[in-house]
Amino acid sequence: MCGIVGYIGTRKVVPILLEGLKRLEYRGYDSAGLVYFRNSRLIKHRAQGKLSNLGKIVEKVLGVESHVGLGHTRWATHGAPTTANAHPHGDCKDNLVVVHNGIIENYQNLRTELKKKGHIFRSETDTEVLAHLIEEYLDKDLVRAVRKALKRVKGSFAVGILWNGRPDIMVAARNHSPLVLGINNGDGTLLASDVPALLPYTRKVVYLEDKEIAVLASDKWEVRNLDNGRKINKQVQTITWNAGMAEKAGFKHFMLKEIYEQPQALINTLRGRIEPQSGRVELPELKKLATVLNNIERIALVACGTSWHAALVAKYWLEDWVGIPVEVDIASEFRYRKLLLHKNVLTLSISQSGETADTLAGIRLASQLGSRVITICNVVGSTMTREADATLYTHAGPEIGVASTKAFTSQLAALFLFASYLGQMRKTLSAHKVRQLGQAIIGLPPLLEEHLPALQEKIKTVAERFYDSRNFLFVGRGLNFPIALEGALKLKEISYIHAEGYAAGELKHGPIALIDKDMPILGLVPRDNVYEKSISNIEEIRARQGQLILIGSKGDRQLKKITDHVLYMPKTPTMVPELNPILFTIPAQLLAYEIAALRGCDVDQPRNLAKSVTVE
Ligand code: AGP
Repeated sequence: MCGIVGYIGTRKVVPILLEGLKRLEYRGYDSAGLVYFRNSRLIKHRAQGKLSNLGKIVEKVLGVESHVGLGHTRWATHGAPTTANAHPHGDCKDNLVVVHNGIIENYQNLRTELKKKGHIFRSETDTEVLAHLIEEYLDKDLVRAVRKALKRVKGSFAVGILWNGRPDIMVAARNHSPLVLGINNGDGTLLASDVPALLPYTRKVVYLEDKEIAVLASDKWEVRNLDNGRKINKQVQTITWNAGMAEKAGFKHFMLKEIYEQPQALINTLRGRIEPQSGRVELPELKKLATVLNNIERIALVACGTSWHAALVAKYWLEDWVGIPVEVDIASEFRYRKLLLHKNVLTLSISQSGETADTLAGIRLASQLGSRVITICNVVGSTMTREADATLYTHAGPEIGVASTKAFTSQLAALFLFASYLGQMRKTLSAHKVRQLGQAIIGLPPLLEEHLPALQEKIKTVAERFYDSRNFLFVGRGLNFPIALEGALKLKEISYIHAEGYAAGELKHGPIALIDKDMPILGLVPRDNVYEKSISNIEEIRARQGQLILIGSKGDRQLKKITDHVLYMPKTPTMVPELNPILFTIPAQLLAYEIAALRGCDVDQPRNLAKSVTVE
């Protein structure tokens, strides 16, 4: 999410900042800005949209004699992608500026407190709060003021800060959001959220860890602990990757990088929304619809593609935990059928981009019929978020690969939160169940993080065996039926192998005719309430010599007796089978990825597909 670049040294700073920002463009952004010193004043330039817009604005100052500055590309999280919300953000007098990646969870409270003290805000962002908070603590010592302010901040941050009281230094700090220093011996010190921005100038870097604060000067730098201020001895490392590899953080494709980003994306979706002890879910963005949510009789879920698969999973959660009927529609069908919607039916749209034409048309129709609309979306300020009555953001960060991976699992996490929230609100879930669900989903990201590398290694072997198949079937039951659909979609869209997903119990009604010794079938068989039924379906496939790949729960020895190709997933925290769809999606994504990579396909930009489908 977002990009930061900073420089303090002897060279002219504006071209360095622009070049650095260009190299961070791949991360996705919707506005950009930069700041530099001129005659001891901080001069800011900001622009909505592409970096070329900022480029036009700063054309005349490329040669300006300024040697200290910060640049930023913003991917909106709080407030629409406008120029006013673009970074850098300043304090009341613009004597101090901040660029920030991440999310300040308690920004509303801080903003209210600062407003009472007379601070005037000029944007809707969480970041601006930080500039004013530092201003509150500032006397002569910038580092001390930044430390004091950051101690009060809850959430994630990578920040770069400049103050006209100390134009000889730049301060940077991180917590759960990456930040790296570039050491350009004798020719300045750099700051960036990601290595590619540094590569034209240096390959010597220092990675900041969580809760570290750095002070950069033209010819020196130091890193301290954010809490106690003690100096930390940091190692300078040498980057051996080229720029292309660095953009993908060493991964071969964006899709693989995004698969590996899922634990962090889930943390971002959950951040600040679950009380860890009780598991209670807080979704302040939905408060204004409290009466509606208490009175609804039905929910209509509408989405396309992968987002539709997320909706199919959510139907199980909502019906089980809230006990109200849920209907799920593909948006292109929804918009052309007789819709029986009214004010007591909630329409919930799910869209990564927030721009999908069919889904957008669907929510417009729903609104016209008096239904209130909530959208689950990843892109702040997108059309759907502007038109919905409320938005639940997934905060997965920009997704570059056309195949949706982290956006999907984040949608599932947001829907999981929504269903639990509704069950809480309508008292259909017991406090015990709320705690069990909440604690389980909080425990999921570390479990995934730990498991991913070994899982990928095992999947490589399976992919080598099956990559030249012409067809593939994916089967699952219950909550994992939509994951079978999603696995098949992933495989077909990036490897061009014909793949279909089925509810395992449906095979005997037709698709079983396809099964012979040449047909690979991936079966999702976690230990859940339909396990025995799933195994019966798997046996039906085995009897017809289908080539089975089974994904099951750790410790299930029965699966090994059925096939050699078994992938085990860890048991979900607090043994909540409802979380299996998030967990079991990962091997399906990895299998699609490994097969497509072996077939030499353009994994990140498959033929005929677009990231955002803005036409009908
Ligand atoms: C899946 O990998 C695709 N990218 C596609 O199915 C996508 O989910 C669909 O086009 C919907 O997009 P949205 O979530 O942006 O609305």
